[in-house]
Amino acid sequence: MSGLLICALRPEHHEQVIGKVDEWWGGRPMMAMLPKLFFTHFRDTSFAAEDDERCVGFLAGFSSQTNPAEAYVHFIGVDPAYRQRNVGRMLYEQFWKAVERRGARVVLGVTSPMNRASLAFHRKLGFAVVPSSHQKDGVYVHENYDGPGEDRVLLRREL
Ligand SMILES: CC(C)(COP(=O)(O)OP(=O)(O)OC[C@H]1O[C@@H](n2cnc3c(N)ncnc32)[C@H](O)[C@@H]1OP(=O)(O)O)[C@@H](O)C(=O)NCCC(=O)NCCS
Repeated sequence: MSGLLICALRPEHHEQVIGKVDEWWGGRPMMAMLPKLFFTHFRDTSFAAEDDERCVGFLAGFSSQTNPAEAYVHFIGVDPAYRQRNVGRMLYEQFWKAVERRGARVVLGVTSPMNRASLAFHRKLGFAVVPSSHQKDGVYVHENYDGPGEDRVLLRREL
């Protein structure tokens, strides 16, 4: 991956990755949660990792319109062949700079309680788990957060 480049996310990146995200997420059905709008309307705060013009990782995130002191990361994914080489960290570093310039003081996100790799990765990057009244396997879980049966772990990192 000699020519790895972090750049702004573009609609063409969506075409490159949308057919792969379920595989990147270990077979979970993620595609419906990643419409092209995230690659079109949040380009100032969303980033791609390219190797030879091929998208091998992306972060889709934005500053909150409601509270400019908050930013939110919707999705981050890295091609399995490029993992554990700091691609995810580089994407987050660009995101933090971009949202900080827009006034963010904190980055928020959610992850599935079953996604222990995501939890470990986010903890390494300085995210804390937001406490709740319920724990699953030692982790605070917000039950039904995204709808019936859709529990989430809430993540938070101060900038
Ligand atoms: C989570 C994910 C984005 C990490 O990307 P990555 O490029 O491999 O991560 P990095 O190489 O930048 O790792 C940064 C740190 O996190 C750690 N880390 C990364 N993946 C990890 C894992 N599965 N388990 C434990 N630690 C992990 C790295 O060891 C590194 O720690 P270090 O700084 O002490 O060396 C990637 O595994 C992925 O795309 N997973 C599937 C999609 C997903 O679950 N996304 C998150 C929810 S939206």
